[in-house]
Amino acid sequence: MTSTAHDPHTTNNAGVPVESDEHSLTVGRDGPILLHDHYLIEKMAQFNRERVPERVVHAKGAGAYGTFEVTNDVSQFTKAVVFQPGKQTQMLARFSTVAGEQGSPDTWRDPRGFALKFYTDVGNYDLVGNNTPIFFVRDTIKFQDFIRSQKRRPDNGLRDNDMQWDFWTLSPESAHMVTWLMGDRGIPKTYRHMNGYGSHTYMWINGGGERFWVKFHFKTDQGIDFLTQEEADHLAGADPDVHRRDLYDAIERGDHPSWTLYVQVMPFDDAPDYRFNPFDLTKVWPHGDYPLIEVGRMTLNHNPDNYFIHIEQAAFEPSNLIPGVSVSPDKMLLGRIFSYPDTHRYRIGPNYAQLPPNRPHVPVHSYAKDGPMRFDPSLTAAPYAPNSKGGPATDPERFDPAAGWESAGEMVRNAYTLHREDDDWGQPGTMVRDVLDDAARDRLVSNVTGHLRNGVTQPVLERALQYWRNIDKNLGDRIAAGVGGG
Ligand code: NDP
Ligand code: HEM
Repeated sequence: MTSTAHDPHTTNNAGVPVESDEHSLTVGRDGPILLHDHYLIEKMAQFNRERVPERVVHAKGAGAYGTFEVTNDVSQFTKAVVFQPGKQTQMLARFSTVAGEQGSPDTWRDPRGFALKFYTDVGNYDLVGNNTPIFFVRDTIKFQDFIRSQKRRPDNGLRDNDMQWDFWTLSPESAHMVTWLMGDRGIPKTYRHMNGYGSHTYMWINGGGERFWVKFHFKTDQGIDFLTQEEADHLAGADPDVHRRDLYDAIERGDHPSWTLYVQVMPFDDAPDYRFNPFDLTKVWPHGDYPLIEVGRMTLNHNPDNYFIHIEQAAFEPSNLIPGVSVSPDKMLLGRIFSYPDTHRYRIGPNYAQLPPNRPHVPVHSYAKDGPMRFDPSLTAAPYAPNSKGGPATDPERFDPAAGWESAGEMVRNAYTLHREDDDWGQPGTMVRDVLDDAARDRLVSNVTGHLRNGVTQPVLERALQYWRNIDKNLGDRIAAGVGGG
């Protein structure tokens, strides 16, 4: 074979130049291939191991690097370095759909993930939220069942609206989120045209040890925009990767998308007597009660040069918290603190934190060692603590007694303590009546009707009609008329 001039020549994984990418080594022109054609074997074996398991949820997504810049002084509420006046911090964002698989269309009706990693001066801080300020369930123990009802049936491998409505109507706490999902924001026009929310209530601690409850709102500077069901159905076939493409193309052409971060801040002692349980993930805090306070702006300005390395292997985890930000008694958030590092050890491997998107931008002095694919030697002088060899020691001063809350009582399995207005139908009813205009309400009726007419059977259908009447009687009657039900 004539060789064309290529510099460098192809090598195998050991760096040794290889002879051919087109012809296996055989005995004679028509003879069998030989086992010692090492390069052929290497190609086949490498290919067989090319995938990691997709995320168990949020499998399809897109992401980019950027910068977060603080534009307002919120230091009276938090000492977190990333939120101090004037501070700029490098970051990574990944947006995603939830229920679909890696190859699923970007325009399916679904919440969108809004996962952020800030490479701060004191290690990684992750805020792993959605484009919704609320969620379908309020207890971690229901999350797995909820997700299974949204994914595929075990018998025929199909998604099934009957299964979805069965779970939702037996879980009335889902009403607020389902109303959101079935409205315009259930299919954003692009990832650039949606808000992001931390969703949970978190705790902020200021330099004086004072505690606050806080909710995060990232408002899109591109403006909210959405796709109708018809537009989304068309795009699902015409360009299933339309949102991944849109984000990449916008950044490539220098049209860097940005979001302005606001927070709602609740004084620590307001929580027990607030009209809603402030830790219930199915509820918002109305803006009239706790107004938005500007914090800063995140701008995505840099596409990764390798999707698999930087986005597929990215590991966002709500457990990555820094001083000044802590958890709240939200039972969903507390469950998530365990779940994400656990799934990363399985999905990527126990040394996932060493990989480029996950490495903090500060030195790591951890006693973690060895394990599959470890390439970063431990920086510690001895592999155990305590040691007298000059290894790192913990800093007891770092224990922040302020970063918690007081709690006592019997062991129980129970819903949250009820607050005055804690029913499941009130806030979605407010959304339907006071936030949506006539056209948005019409689209909500049409979206729900279309969904219910697609395979939802009795008695689930009857329960679904009652569910909507509980949210808003008039809306429920219109949906019932639309599906031809009573
Ligand atoms: P406000 O009138 O102050 O806020 C209403 C919010 O609704 C705005 O933030 C707006 O977001 C958002 N919104 C507008 N259209 C839609 C839509 N089609 N789907 C979902 N959200 C939409 O009222 P309150 O704070 O008193 O809340 C009233 C209701 O609004 C709540 O019960 C809840 O259902 C919903 N809501 C409340 C939020 C909160 O954190 N308080 C956040 C989002 C929704 P934007 O300004 O970005 O357009
Ligand atoms: C992804 C668990 C609730 C937002 C994931 C993953 C798991 C998980 C296992 C896959 C992570 C990976 O493979 O990298 C849970 C559990 C929940 C819960 C157990 C409830 C107890 C939520 C909520 C939100 C959320 C309430 C939003 C407020 C996300 C996002 C991703 C994700 C954005 C994708 C992260 C990425 O882009 O890599 N979740 N989740 N999850 N979850 Fe959750």
